[in-house]
Amino acid sequence: EKSKPTHISPAWWQTQQQPLIELSNTHSPCYVYHLDTIKHQIDQLKSLTAIDRIFYASKANSHPQILNFMHQQQISLETVSPGEIERVLKSCKGIKAESMLFTPNFAPIHEYQDALDQGLFVTIDNPSLLYDNPEVFQNQEVILRLDPGHGSGHHRYVRTAGSHSKFGIPSSDIEQIAQWCKDHQVKVIGLHAHSGSGILDHSNWPRIAEYLGSCLSFFPTAKIVNVGGGLGIRENPGDMGLDLQALNNALLTFKKSNPSIELWMEPGRFLVAHSGVLMAKVTQTKWKSSHGYIGIETGMNSLIRPALYGAWHNIVNLSRLNQDAEYTATVVGPMCESGDVLGVDRKMPRTSVGDTILIANTGAYGAVMASNYNLREPAKEFVI
Ligand code: LLP
Repeated sequence: EKSKPTHISPAWWQTQQQPLIELSNTHSPCYVYHLDTIKHQIDQLKSLTAIDRIFYASKANSHPQILNFMHQQQISLETVSPGEIERVLKSCKGIKAESMLFTPNFAPIHEYQDALDQGLFVTIDNPSLLYDNPEVFQNQEVILRLDPGHGSGHHRYVRTAGSHSKFGIPSSDIEQIAQWCKDHQVKVIGLHAHSGSGILDHSNWPRIAEYLGSCLSFFPTAKIVNVGGGLGIRENPGDMGLDLQALNNALLTFKKSNPSIELWMEPGRFLVAHSGVLMAKVTQTKWKSSHGYIGIETGMNSLIRPALYGAWHNIVNLSRLNQDAEYTATVVGPMCESGDVLGVDRKMPRTSVGDTILIANTGAYGAVMASNYNLREPAKEFVI
C-alpha cells in the first residue's frame, strides 16, 4: 500500500501483518519478496559515485521478476553457470550480452566457450584454464580474477581468498599469465577480486582496489577494476551496517590515482536480503525438560543458512506481534536432521499450532539454496 513504509524493516512487515498472514494461510510455506525494498537498496548503492557499474550477483536470488527488476533499474547481471545465463536471458527481455558477466569457477571449458560466443564478459580464475585451451581464448577479451591473499566474510565457507581457497589466481602466477596472454593475443581488459561474503568492514573494497591497482602495470590493456561483491547487511535495525559513505570516499581516492579505470562492483546479498521474508505455519510445539521447541512447516529444505553457517535470522510470531515474549524456544523444521534448526533459543510469545512464523532477511541465499531433501517441497515464492 502506498502510504506504508517503502522498505522492509520490522515496521514494514508489522504493517503488512494481515495480508501476510492471509497469504501464509493459503500458501505456507512461502517466501515473499518486496520490490520496493530492492529499489531502496539499489538507490543506496547508486549513491556510491565512485562505482561506475553495478552487476547484481544473480546467485543470491534468481527469481525471474527480481532479475527483470534489476535489469529495469539499469543494473547489469553477474552469472556463474549456464543455468543462470539462461535464466537472465529469459527474464530480462532485450538484455544485451555486454550487460552480463560470467564468473564461474572450475567450470568445464565449453561453458567459457559458449559465454564468449554469446558476447558476455568472462572472468577467468585459473592460469591452467588458459594454458590448456589457447584455441578458445586466443584473440578474446577476458577479465582475470586475482586472489588478493586474504579472505573475509561471515563464515569460513564464504571466504574466497587466501591459499586455502579454490578461487582466484595467486600473485606468484601474475607475471607468467601476463606474458602468456601477450604471447597469445588474449586481451586482458580488467582485473577482478572477490574476497568473501557478508563483510561489514568498508575498507575491504578499497583494499581490493588498491591490490588490483598495484597489478595493473602487468596488464597495460586492463581498464576495468572489479572489486567483487560481499557487502554485508544489518540483520537487526539496531546493528551497525556498512559505512557506505566511508566506502565511497575511499574508492574515490583510488579513482583519483587511477583516473582511466572503470570501477565495477558485483553485490548480491546487499540488494536482495532485506527484501525477503520466509513464512511458515506452526505444526507442533514441544517441551523437553525445560526446553521449548516450535516446529514449522519448513526447515533446512527452504532455508539452509542457519544449518550450514550458523547464520542468524530474526524470527517472529507474525500472528502475535503485539504479545510479549513469554518463553525461550528453538524454532525447527520437519526434516529428519538434528541440524534442521532455524533459530536457537529465541524469545517467543506463547505460540500455538497454526500461528504464522516469519523469518526475516531471507531474500538472499534462501530459495536459491533450497532442496527437496526428505522429498519435502521447499517454500514457494511470491513477489510484491
Ligand atoms: N561475486 C562473486 C565472484 C561471488 O562469488 C559472490 C558470492 C558474489 C559476487 C556476491 O556476494 P554477496 O554480495 O552476495 O555477498 N551462500 C552464502 C553466500 C555465498 C556467496 C557466494 N559468492 C550465504 O548464504 O551467506
